[in-house]
Amino acid sequence: MSRKKVTIAELLEKKQKSQKITMVTAYDYPTASILDQVDIDTILVGDSLGNVVLGYDSTVPVTMDEMIHHSKAVARGVKSSFMIGDMPFLSYQVSIEKALENAGRFIKEAGCDAVKLEGGSDMAPVVRAVVKAGIPVCGHIGLTPQTATMLSGYKVQGKDAESARKMIQSAKDLEEAGAFMIVIECVPDFLAARITAELSIPTIGIGAGKDCDGQVLVYHDLVGLFERFTPKFVKKYINLTPMIKEAVSQYKTEVETGEFPGPEHSFAMNRKEAEKI
Ligand code: KIV
Repeated sequence: MSRKKVTIAELLEKKQKSQKITMVTAYDYPTASILDQVDIDTILVGDSLGNVVLGYDSTVPVTMDEMIHHSKAVARGVKSSFMIGDMPFLSYQVSIEKALENAGRFIKEAGCDAVKLEGGSDMAPVVRAVVKAGIPVCGHIGLTPQTATMLSGYKVQGKDAESARKMIQSAKDLEEAGAFMIVIECVPDFLAARITAELSIPTIGIGAGKDCDGQVLVYHDLVGLFERFTPKFVKKYINLTPMIKEAVSQYKTEVETGEFPGPEHSFAMNRKEAEKI
């Protein structure tokens, strides 16, 4: 039986019932279709697109047009998972007007159910405006890759009491501004648990321990399709890269030796017709 569309109310209910929420990233139709079929609650078209699909060194160069293009492909594969589009760097920081315009593109053009944007208390006014326009917003605190340079690199955040207190306040400000969920990336598990306990909206952890209301992994990390670097918080559930290399190498050999295509992959012609040619 096909699942009904996941709603924000159901995500909130999962938190209230202490049922974990699942989130995985997707950037194309076949992946989205697989995630949807295995009942992943929320699919994030992450700007990690830049790293794992487009081959950039960071998420900074990712454009709105690239995000919309991939979000549209994902939307075609999603039937019931809740789909979130990730707002890329400088698509929401420049002005509230620009943030509204770009958030609107994710919903109207790409078919997303919500948007995600990075930042703490400073971003609360943007979150408030986008939510007021009728677009659900997921926050993202802790390690925020778009501004990793400002954080002096891809480091665990909130390790001292002062920055931890600031992060708790950020989470509260985002909730107060109307965010329906918050991703917490790369923070000590104690702090993520504390934030999760203090909020009434769900938290989704990545490198934030087991006490968040849910977990997210980048699809290419989860299935072993990205080899450039693997953060400590990643668990590879399968290592597809060597399996794909093996399959493609076998194909190459079979083409070179004439073993492929065999008669079962070829189309026969009626002999009489063939003789008439
Ligand atoms: O871009 C992304 O994939 C993300 C997740 C890691 C949360 O922001």
